[in-house]
Amino acid sequence: MQSSEIRQKFFEFFEARGHRVVPSSSLIPDDPSVLLTTAGMQQFKPYYTGDADSMTSVHPMLGKPLGSKNAVSIQKSFRTSDIDEVGDERHLTFFEMMGNFSFGGYFKEGAIKLAHEFLTSKEWMDLEISYVTIFQGKEDIGVPKDEESKEDIGVPKDEESKRIWQSLGIADIREEGMEDVFWGPTGSSGPCGPTTEIYCKNGAGQDIEVWNIVFNEFFFNGSREELLAGNSGKKLERLKTPGVDTGMGLERLVMVVQKTTTIFETDLFAPIHSFMRGNASRQEEMRIIADHVRAVTFLLADGVRPSNKERGYILRRLIRRAIIQWQQLGFSRHGLSNLIKGMMDQYGVFYEETKHNQGTVDHEFYVEAEKFDRTLKTGAKEFFDRFPDMKIKEGAFGFHQIKRISGDDAFYFHQSYGLTLDVIKDFAKKGGHIVEVDEKEFESALERHREISRAGSQSKFGGHGLYMKTGEVTIRDESEVEKVTRLHTATHLMHAALRAVLGPEVRQDGSDITVERTRFDFRFGRKVTPDELKKVEDWVNEAVEKDLTVKWEEMSYEEAIARGALGFFHEKYPVRVKVYTMFDPDTNEVYSKELCGGPHVAHTNEVGRFRIVKEESSSAGVRRIRGVVE
Ligand code: ALA
Repeated sequence: MQSSEIRQKFFEFFEARGHRVVPSSSLIPDDPSVLLTTAGMQQFKPYYTGDADSMTSVHPMLGKPLGSKNAVSIQKSFRTSDIDEVGDERHLTFFEMMGNFSFGGYFKEGAIKLAHEFLTSKEWMDLEISYVTIFQGKEDIGVPKDEESKEDIGVPKDEESKRIWQSLGIADIREEGMEDVFWGPTGSSGPCGPTTEIYCKNGAGQDIEVWNIVFNEFFFNGSREELLAGNSGKKLERLKTPGVDTGMGLERLVMVVQKTTTIFETDLFAPIHSFMRGNASRQEEMRIIADHVRAVTFLLADGVRPSNKERGYILRRLIRRAIIQWQQLGFSRHGLSNLIKGMMDQYGVFYEETKHNQGTVDHEFYVEAEKFDRTLKTGAKEFFDRFPDMKIKEGAFGFHQIKRISGDDAFYFHQSYGLTLDVIKDFAKKGGHIVEVDEKEFESALERHREISRAGSQSKFGGHGLYMKTGEVTIRDESEVEKVTRLHTATHLMHAALRAVLGPEVRQDGSDITVERTRFDFRFGRKVTPDELKKVEDWVNEAVEKDLTVKWEEMSYEEAIARGALGFFHEKYPVRVKVYTMFDPDTNEVYSKELCGGPHVAHTNEVGRFRIVKEESSSAGVRRIRGVVE
């Protein structure tokens, strides 16, 4: 059965059973607390919470009320939480999520029976269910027994779903906990509840989760992370009208129906099949390309544009990674554009926006790819400046010398220019050398960077512990980390600007950065005039526009101070410190040099436009400036 037929049958099945067919909403959601749409239920969230009524409220996509308590959709979805998994048999960033929903219509029995019939009936998917999971219950989760009572009864084991599955002849019913079979909330608050999941076998006989059926019984006024941590003091509240929210990844369903081993062999990835066959030994790279090219196509078609911020940054990373992987396989970029065209042709039948926006998608991809080419070229130039003996040697006559590069150096090029280890090795090869990179050191530099970002995000966001499993929250966190990082670099530049404008007697007295702004305290005896503030602002923005290179080195504290790095909190520094330098790569002029744990952006143009919003006195002899980046 072709994927197009599966989509059709899904709609047909549920429409015939009283569901309103609702088109997919955009990947750019209405809900400002999430960056990209991660689940089919998002556009229906108000129906669960009671903020809208599916029978009477006008649905923004339909221009009229659903006129039904039940809906069905195939939703364009995107999750960054799986991005590191892409390359295996079944993980994706972009995917199509099929779902049926009920807002006060049917509940457990209706939902389970519908799913069972659609999957197993000969007339529909004709599949066998391997096993299902149900919620094992959790006592200490703080659900009041009823509105009056203060007694907590928790969420009991889902005996009802178990009975329903048994009545349908399913023998293998497994019990799982909060992490796996309790969904939501998405974003900063929302509906949530226990789930039951259905597993079927793929072509290789492996059990794959295909369908997740959520019983939205509760509302949690906090994030999923807070819910799982269980120490926020917030309680689950009962929703007035319990509802059903289901999600089935089309790609996985197609894989089990078409009996393939991976999602990439299904007809959903037809445009890339000949490449995959031609590069059978490089499956992981091919899968990354396949996933990213499709995701890029849909993101561009929905109006996301590459940038250094938020969803634009996610898109930029996907484009760059796809290009790198593609070029590693020895193909020209033109081929990649063709692949995107192939995706638009294939998906245009079902998603009109990919058909209508062909020209724009093509153009935007081209412009971004050109930009990345330039970054790679600058990276190459700096690489050969740093390692001059790796330049092409005249008369080397094929004699390959082995050179070593430290992991920290490799990491620097990775971080600053997006050069992967493979690309770095390639550079050296072109010069007639074989390069050995200390990969262990590289990995540990990478890990250190991740830890710093994590620690940075946690302390800067008030220790909320923002790394969590739900897709959209992770996206939000990444963008928050990225925003704070930009503000952090802006803070260093502002510090340097204050010293340049007001004089070197300016001494930092503390700083505090949130997602919204940076707040910088410094010792200075008088009010800073508007004219001076303007000069500081201009100084920073010029430094941003010059696109200074930001690099860090580790050294002893004494050495750092001897080299002129600023650092005003002597007692707090460890023996080895990091020194961040921002310099003009053309003239080597240093703009800022400070002791700091990081993280920072790699190039100052990532900071964006800097603006001072307030200057005031903080305490005697200490001034306080708040600044933002746009
Ligand atoms: N909203 C549920 C999910 O995405 C169905 O898994």
